[in-house]
Amino acid sequence: MANGLDDVVAADTVLSDVDGAGGHLTIRGHSLTELAGHWRFGQVVRLLFDGFFDGLPGDSELEKAIGKARAEVFERLQPMLGQLAPLDIYSAMRAGIALLPDGEGLADALRLIAAPAVLTPALLRIARGEKPIAPDERVDHAADMLGMLGGGESPAFAKALDTYLVTVCDHGLNASTFATRVVASTQAGLTSAILAGLGALKGPLHGGAPGPVIEMLDAIEASGDAAAWLRGEIARGGRIMGFGHRIYRVRDPRADVLKAVVRQLGARNSRETGSRLAFAETVEQAALEVLKAAKPQRSIQTNVEFYTALLLEAAGFPKEAFSNVFAAGRVAGWIAHAREQQATGRLIRPQSRYVGPVPDLVA
Ligand code: ACO
Repeated sequence: MANGLDDVVAADTVLSDVDGAGGHLTIRGHSLTELAGHWRFGQVVRLLFDGFFDGLPGDSELEKAIGKARAEVFERLQPMLGQLAPLDIYSAMRAGIALLPDGEGLADALRLIAAPAVLTPALLRIARGEKPIAPDERVDHAADMLGMLGGGESPAFAKALDTYLVTVCDHGLNASTFATRVVASTQAGLTSAILAGLGALKGPLHGGAPGPVIEMLDAIEASGDAAAWLRGEIARGGRIMGFGHRIYRVRDPRADVLKAVVRQLGARNSRETGSRLAFAETVEQAALEVLKAAKPQRSIQTNVEFYTALLLEAAGFPKEAFSNVFAAGRVAGWIAHAREQQATGRLIRPQSRYVGPVPDLVA
């Protein structure tokens, strides 16, 4: 078996399916393109939670309950924000989430949905020396995230963020979802399971990639020669951020959804975003060519993180907070997977093969 458990099927799930050869993502019976831009994040939370919680209300009631959960999380965690703020923003968010009750019910789940959305803007404002803005529970989840950031509520940017949250809500048995399911299988509680997911998401080979995408774009712009910069990066053993995937052998379908959102923002709302997109497209083309030449044996295509970086930058998030926003979307899938795993009643406990030194029993 490969060290990375490549090709191992470790769970049955009704939640999502990643077709790596065809480039399709199915989320609970719906294609990504059916959901992204058409369903609100709260509706997709309901889709994922359906059957996993007693007393799950309809769409609009659930969206109201998510709003109430944002208000509750803000009230609970506000006194601690000053102590969390000196940490890097991802660690601060994770530490704040660790303070939430470790239960199994819908109220616990909704606090966990609310927490990244509330903590991220509050921590960003404190880091800028500003007072956190309390959530407005009557407003849509994505719009309220931007409202708490203090940039005003532009419907176009709120819609873009909402589409992003839906696009990343779930994605098969990725590293963070697997980590979540392992902890959930011990019956530890939803907060513990989500903390495992957060730990796995942070790394640059998973959800930590979009911040470095911005750093790469800036470095390439400064160098003035995309292909030379990219070839140099590969020659020194580096990885091109926002490219490659364990499952997809074709283009990640999420990349196209997010690129279309950035294109719309650029055309209608922000000329700066439009020119950033044009530059990113030239870098993408150069990267695909350089990767094809450097790794002809492997089909390395654009993944979700490349256009995530552009979308979140346009929406007003600094690059150090991109993984937090990813977590704000993915937490919905993690919770549903945790509940699905718990329902099997089976502890995940694989074996290892011992390859270390053997004790000298004769002496
Ligand atoms: N840049 C340069 N080389 C790459 C890249 C890349 N982005 N991706 C894969 N390769 C190369 C590897 O170096 C390796 O080359 P080798 O055979 O000469 O050693 C070969 O392709 C196969 O690499 P693996 O690590 O086996 O491929 P895997 O499919 O397991 O990797 C991963 C997937 C980790 C995402 C990888 O493509 C990568 O590091 N990408 C850059 C980071 C990134 O964008 N992460 C976000 C992923 S999307 C998400 O998790 C939400």
